[in-house]
Amino acid sequence: MKPSAERVQDAEEASGALRAGLGTLDPSLPRHVAIIMDGNGRWATNRGRPRTAGHLAGAKAVRRVVEHARRRSIGHLTLYAFSSDNWTRPPEEVGTLMSLFRRYLAAEVPRCVEHDIRLTIVGRRDRLSAQLRRAITAAEHATRKGTALHLRLAIDYSSRDLIIRAAAHVPQGAPVSREEFSRALAAAGHAPDLPDVDLLIRTGGEQRLSDFLLWECAYAELVFSRRMWPEFSEHDLDAALQEFSGRERRFGGATQAVG
Ligand code: FPP
Repeated sequence: MKPSAERVQDAEEASGALRAGLGTLDPSLPRHVAIIMDGNGRWATNRGRPRTAGHLAGAKAVRRVVEHARRRSIGHLTLYAFSSDNWTRPPEEVGTLMSLFRRYLAAEVPRCVEHDIRLTIVGRRDRLSAQLRRAITAAEHATRKGTALHLRLAIDYSSRDLIIRAAAHVPQGAPVSREEFSRALAAAGHAPDLPDVDLLIRTGGEQRLSDFLLWECAYAELVFSRRMWPEFSEHDLDAALQEFSGRERRFGGATQAVG
C-alpha cells in the first residue's frame, strides 16, 4: 500500500485528470451530451396554460439537468434552446423566450461560478437584442475558468447555416479533408476544442434532429424520451446514460461496446 500522502496525491491527480479531460476517464460515460428540449408547449397546453408557462417550467428543468450532468461528470452539455427557425413563432412567445434567456444567464452565472461550470453560447448573435448579447458576453467571461462542466446553450442556432458559413472558410481549389473542414467550422463559430456528440437526447416524443449539431452528431447515439421537457428529471437523464452505456458503438467499423 502506498503511503497515505501519495494516495491522496493520486486521488487528486485522478480527479484533476477527470476535470481536465472532462469525463474522459470512464468510457461508459458520454463526453458530450446534447439535448433537444422539446415538449414545453404541449406540457403547458395539456394543463390549460399558455405555452409560455411551459417555457418557464422548462427553465427549471434546465437547472435540474445541468446540476445533474455536472454530478455525473459529463464534460460537455449542449442544450438546444432556440433554433433559427424558431423566429417564426408568435412574437409574444419569442419575446418570452428571449427575456427568459437573459434572466437565466443573469441568475445562473453566480451558480455556474460556484460550481465550476463554464457557460458558452453557440449560434448567431447578430439578431439577438443588445441586452441579451451583453448578458451572454458577461456570462461567458465570468464562467470562462470553469472546468467541471462545459454548458453550451444553442440560441439562434442552425447547423445548416453554420455549415454554409464554414464553406466560405474552406481553402479554395483543393479537396478538403475532415480536419480542414472542422477548422473551417471553427472559423465560422463552432467551438474548435469540442468532442463530437456521443449521446443525443430528444424529449417530447418526437424523433428527429431538427437542424441541431448535424456535423457533430455523425456517430452520436440517439435516445428519444416521451417525457415532455418540463418533466425531464435527474432520473430520466440517468436512464438515458444507462441506455448509452449499453450501446455498441461501431463508428462504421468493428463493434465497440460502450460499457
Ligand atoms: C421546444 O418546445 C422548446 C423550445 C423551443 C424552447 C426551449 C426553451 C426552454 C427549455 C426554456 C428555457 C431555456 C433556458 C436555457 C433558460 P416546444 O415549445 O416546441 O414544445 P411543443 O413541441 O410541445 O410545442
